[in-house]
Amino acid sequence: MSAPLPNLLVLSGGDVADQLEGNRAECLDVVRRAYLAHDAGSSVNPQSAFLRFPHQPRSRIISLPAYLGGEFDVAGIKWIASFPANRDRGIPRASAVLVLNDAETGYPFACLESSIISAARTAASAVLAAETIVGTRDARRVGIIGTGLIARQVWKFLRDLGWRTGGFRLFDLDRAAADRFGAALTEQGAPDVVTVDDAAGAFADCDVVLLTTVAGEPHLHDPALLAHAPVVLHLSLRDLSPEMILAAHNITDDVDHAVRERTSLHLTEQRTGNRGFVHGTLADLLTGRTARPEGTPVIFSPFGLGVLDLAVGKWVHDRVTAQGGGTPVPGFYDAVAS
Ligand SMILES: NC(=O)c1ccc[n+]([C@@H]2O[C@H](COP(=O)([O-])OP(=O)(O)OC[C@H]3O[C@@H](n4cnc5c(N)ncnc54)[C@H](O)[C@@H]3O)[C@@H](O)[C@H]2O)c1
Repeated sequence: MSAPLPNLLVLSGGDVADQLEGNRAECLDVVRRAYLAHDAGSSVNPQSAFLRFPHQPRSRIISLPAYLGGEFDVAGIKWIASFPANRDRGIPRASAVLVLNDAETGYPFACLESSIISAARTAASAVLAAETIVGTRDARRVGIIGTGLIARQVWKFLRDLGWRTGGFRLFDLDRAAADRFGAALTEQGAPDVVTVDDAAGAFADCDVVLLTTVAGEPHLHDPALLAHAPVVLHLSLRDLSPEMILAAHNITDDVDHAVRERTSLHLTEQRTGNRGFVHGTLADLLTGRTARPEGTPVIFSPFGLGVLDLAVGKWVHDRVTAQGGGTPVPGFYDAVAS
């Protein structure tokens, strides 16, 4: 007797966005549990592969295959493209799909629009790191450098998780983008939102600073920017010079992933010849194995692990399935079996 063939379910960006709205606290908890499962060794997370184009050096497509065990027990792969010139075409820079594979049969059972999942899991990891490092959901002021898709998601997590924030300082090379972002924040009730003239203005007096640019090389070099000991959420990974990295307490998600591909951590390793400047992982903080030293700037540089996409993708998939949503592709595997 043969087992029934699995079905394939396609989830659009709309399906994904519907599940996130109103449920960001739950999503953040899924990300927390995924970090802990990864930390406990219940995962396989090979290095991402970078497909680059000699004729288009700023563009890339990255594959992130992974397996996450424990309560998740799912395998899969995210295939995410970054084409910065898309903005001139009037379409978003990043596009992605996530394929979820059944851990028992290997069959892909879902294909999800994944730029939203990727942005959500990234924002969730940043806000989780911020609350873990700060110890509360309070910020006197938040600085945001690079006001695109990821920054928007981080704002939504801060808002939905009830962060008490006294103000926002925004900087973007595209000033109009920062102004639009600021107008949206103000409309949603954020206090004291100001667009500033340079990146330094988004550090000054900000105890939490978010870096979400698309910089390929360090453009921030002055360790004095860190003198007031902020928590820097360095999601774009390549903004800070080694001098700045060396002036802070450095936390990442997974050292072997984050110290490569010319990230600021990688450049610092090349400069110093070792990785001693990386003080721990977010899981170290979550489990209490390490703590933030008093009065020290902290830089969180998460590479962004494929296991997080799997965890959030599976969570979205299970919610949609329970509601009878998504678009099934009946008979997707039938011809293979006949
Ligand atoms: N670490 C992770 O897990 C992770 C996951 C997803 C995305 N990312 C990174 O987050 C970054 C932001 O992604 P996004 O989807 O929001 O991009 P986006 O293109 O939507 O927005 C980027 C914004 O940064 C601005 N910008 C570019 N260079 C700048 C600079 N030097 N100073 C100030 N502003 C600058 C652009 O004008 C744009 O408004 C990317 O680098 C992406 O690779 C990291």
